[in-house]
Amino acid sequence: GQLNIAAHIVGKKYFGTATNEFQFTDTRYRAELNNTLDFGILTPANSMKWDSTEAVQGQFTFDAAEEVVHQAQRHGQMMRGHNCVWHSQLPDWVSDGGFDKATLLQIVDTHCSTVVGHFRNQIWDVVNEPFNEDGTFRESVFYNTTGTDYIESALRAARRADPKAKLYINDYNIEGTGAKSDGMYNLVKSLKKKGVPIDGIGVQGHLIVGSVPTTIEANLRKFATLGVEIALTELDIRMDLPVTQDKLEQQKKDYQNVIAACRNVPACIGVTIWDWTDKYSWVPGVFAGQGSPLPWDENYQKKPAYAGIMEGFLIL
Ligand code: G3I
Repeated sequence: GQLNIAAHIVGKKYFGTATNEFQFTDTRYRAELNNTLDFGILTPANSMKWDSTEAVQGQFTFDAAEEVVHQAQRHGQMMRGHNCVWHSQLPDWVSDGGFDKATLLQIVDTHCSTVVGHFRNQIWDVVNEPFNEDGTFRESVFYNTTGTDYIESALRAARRADPKAKLYINDYNIEGTGAKSDGMYNLVKSLKKKGVPIDGIGVQGHLIVGSVPTTIEANLRKFATLGVEIALTELDIRMDLPVTQDKLEQQKKDYQNVIAACRNVPACIGVTIWDWTDKYSWVPGVFAGQGSPLPWDENYQKKPAYAGIMEGFLIL
């Protein structure tokens, strides 16, 4: 068949990538990003985060994010908003504000409703990374001040601002079964029971070649029993450097298996990789000695993982 991902997607699943507007001046990068036969949805990796959208209380700035939105609109690509509330990339006036519970909940409500209300009809990572590895709630200015009430406030504010937006909670290391996945399962179950608006669970998918969990499909199926959508939201599969042909072949198998897990679970609506070329990956700067996590290398050449993605979507 045709050598592109869309031609291999059977049914309504989407495939896309995170990107940054400051990468758009890279003409080779931009040319590939315009290829809607590979990328049907975009996520701004940074420009919709709190430190970009409300660096000063009450002063909202959307120019950088709009560049990504316009790129998507020009090419008929969908958008994922990322994110309303997260413990990282917060301006100091939020993280060090010393607000009481009621005031901080109002600040969360104002922030989420303004940002979600500004960008219409998107899928949103409303709350990002609320959990610790053991499934307990992560300590943050939000949790330490409001308990888990910030989660409900953010979701209700987003729903009020845009009833059409799909509202997700997003986290990493919840790809396979385990304590952190149980934490997410129990949170979403309790939110649903309370009538708090929640439409989906975002599974980030920052994985390691040769160590991809074998329980991903079972775990996605378990999440789906809650009556929510599932999405792989930040997939990349890093390897110990140096790159070898064996590692690239294993990486291809790993991408294929993760994509197939989403393909096999009807509630899984699609996969977003966390940028597409190794040239712009966050991994080397964070994980010393690891890298090469994406389907295109730093010279924009497709790696075996690209074929793994196509084969993973194809119902054999
Ligand atoms: O834009 C500024 C630039 O103006 C400044 O000169 C430069 C040097 O200070 O910093 C630039 O901001 C950086 C930003 O990326 C854009 O490049 C920040 O320092 C840097 O911290 C930020 O890193 C981002 C990281 O989240 C922060 O934790 C990565 O790009 C981004 O890919 C990564 O994405 C996260 C998801 O949001 C949540 N899941 C995990 C994932 C990986 O950490």
